[in-house]
Amino acid sequence: MFQTLEPQPPEGLMATMAAFAADTDPAKLDLGVGVYRDESGTTPVMAAVRAAEARLLAAQTTKAYVGFGGNRPFAAFVEALVLGDQHPARAAGRVVTLQTPGGCGALKLAADLVVKTGKGSRAVVSDPTWPNHGPLFSGAGLSVDTYPYYDAPSGTIDFDAMLSTLDRLASGSVVVLHGACHNPTGADLSTEQWRAVAELLARRGLLPLVDLAYQGLGDGLDADAAPVRMLAERLPEVLIAASCSKNFGLYRERTGVLGVVCDTPAQADAAMSQLVRLARGLWSMPPDHGAAIVHGVLTDPELRAQWIAELDGMRRRVQGLRHEVVRHLVEHCPGRDFGFIARHHGMFSLFGISTAQVRELRSQHHVYMIDDSRMNVAGLRRENLEYFARSVGAVLAAGAGGGG
Ligand SMILES: Cc1ncc(COP(=O)(O)O)c(C=O)c1O
Repeated sequence: MFQTLEPQPPEGLMATMAAFAADTDPAKLDLGVGVYRDESGTTPVMAAVRAAEARLLAAQTTKAYVGFGGNRPFAAFVEALVLGDQHPARAAGRVVTLQTPGGCGALKLAADLVVKTGKGSRAVVSDPTWPNHGPLFSGAGLSVDTYPYYDAPSGTIDFDAMLSTLDRLASGSVVVLHGACHNPTGADLSTEQWRAVAELLARRGLLPLVDLAYQGLGDGLDADAAPVRMLAERLPEVLIAASCSKNFGLYRERTGVLGVVCDTPAQADAAMSQLVRLARGLWSMPPDHGAAIVHGVLTDPELRAQWIAELDGMRRRVQGLRHEVVRHLVEHCPGRDFGFIARHHGMFSLFGISTAQVRELRSQHHVYMIDDSRMNVAGLRRENLEYFARSVGAVLAAGAGGGG
């Protein structure tokens, strides 16, 4: 049977990673992979995470199964982190949250739940979006279309086009929204724009699926969750896929949750029983290690405070780099405005150069971004900002690929 399988080309990111690994130039710069990096270029284990992990190892007496629903206390703490302790939907018993293997697991489970309702068959994602949204949703059986989002020349959101497309969707469509730190563009909706989206979703009977993979890395833990909290106040139903990969640095431990806000507590209970059943057919039980660590961090006041301080430091580092790199780009790229990078949020910005120019940067200057020109700002270091800006200036001046 396997004779008929066609080999698949590697995803763009994998090809970039492989090319970076093979590059022997000491000046090489990885702005491709979507992980946080510190000033030494490493993706650290956070100190609060390390401490919670050490306690876990010392205290754990068994590796027996946790249970079908995974680590329920962990899920409850992450739910509170996302929606806040006092959220009215939580107080009303309208929210259920299940542990999932990372944000990807949550997105897949959300799509399966939508299919299970028999009512939703279509998801719309922003243009552009994180490349794994398409396969996750279409793999679950949803048809996937896009809504306009980013205006590349200005580095801002084409909000009118976004709203008018959403306004034409059939009721019951799933609208996938990046809760904060849009990947890949870095351009987030303003508070007023979020309110307008909420009004439209309510009026048109559309279901938001909020992908919250970077809580704490944009403007702060509460600020980044404000849009999803507002949606959960104004709409009867919301799906929330939250990942602990970036804000706890737990990437490989596959740690996340799916939250479902329902119209009534009875519907929430039914949704939870469906989620447990669906998850059983997907991964049976999620891995516990990362969830147990997050639970350990969030329940210990000292570790929690330490974690928040570390996360604040990560956010401030990226925000600082955004401003500094713009200063260098102004110097080396006359006639080109990269000021939007300083106004973007989170780890990524869509840099706005052509694929030919991205490849030129790679082959001539050992600077690696993804072909669509998404750059991971956290991959920069103070010591190579000058090198980076000079390389971009050289590529722009050479006019590779006709520019833009
Ligand atoms: C927008 C977005 N959603 C979801 C995820 C999934 O994260 P996880 O590694 O937790 O599955 C990512 C990870 O890069 C992401 O960027």
